[in-house]
Amino acid sequence: MPPTNTPPWVEKAKRLAAETALSLVQNVRYLGVGTGSTTRYFIDGLGGIQDRFDGAVASSEQTAALLRQAGIPVLDLNETGDIDLYVDGTDAFDPHFRLIKGHGGALTREKILATASRRFIVIADETKRFDRLGDSVSVPVEVIPSARSYVARQIVRMGATPSLRERYLTDNGNQILDVLSLTLTDPPQLERELKCIPGVVEVGIFARRLPELILMATSQFTVERLKPT
Ligand code: 5RP
Repeated sequence: MPPTNTPPWVEKAKRLAAETALSLVQNVRYLGVGTGSTTRYFIDGLGGIQDRFDGAVASSEQTAALLRQAGIPVLDLNETGDIDLYVDGTDAFDPHFRLIKGHGGALTREKILATASRRFIVIADETKRFDRLGDSVSVPVEVIPSARSYVARQIVRMGATPSLRERYLTDNGNQILDVLSLTLTDPPQLERELKCIPGVVEVGIFARRLPELILMATSQFTVERLKPT
C-alpha cells in the first residue's frame, strides 16, 4: 500500500507534473486518463483544454466520474479503437522506465490503456524514482476471488509475501494481493511469470509497455522531462 509518511512538498509537485502534461495534449482525438491523486490534478486542468480532444477513456470508475464532473465526454475503449495519448501516475519507476502501478487498484484497466495507446506519458513526483524496482513498493496483483488462495500459495512458493487488500474489490469485481519481497532482478520475466498463474488477472509490474516520457516534479518544484536510458 502507498507510504503514509509523505513529505509536505509532494502534493504541490504532483500538481506541477500534472499541469506540465496538459501542454502535451496536442493532436489528440481520444485521450486515456489514469487513476490516482496525480492524475486527479491532470483532470482538474483538462476542463480548460477540452477543445483539444474529442473525449477520454477512463482507467477506473473513479476517473470516469471525475472526468464527467469536469464536463469531458467519457468513451469506452470498444468505441474509440486505439487511443492517441495515455497519461497516468505511477507508484514507482526505475531508470529503465519500468513501473510498479496499482496501489490505487486500477492496474488492469491501466495496463490495457497503456498498451492500447500510441503514446504513454507518466506524471510523478521524485519520491517515485528508485534505482531498482526491488527496493521500492509492494507489487499489486489482481486476482479472481475464487483463486485468491491458490495464487497466494504460488507466490509464496516464489519466496515472496502476498497479503490480501482488505475490504477492497476492483472495478472488475476482483481482489488484490499486495506482494512484498519479490525478486525483481528481471522485471519483464517476473511480469510474465506472475501473469501466467491461473487466476491472476493482471500484475502491477509494467516492464513491457514502457512510457516514452516521465514528467518528474522535484522537491525544488522543477519538472524534469526524463527519457528512458
Ligand atoms: C492507480 C495507480 C496510480 O497511478 C498510482 O497508485 C499513483 O497514484 P498517486 O498519483 O496517487 O501517487 O497505479 O492504480
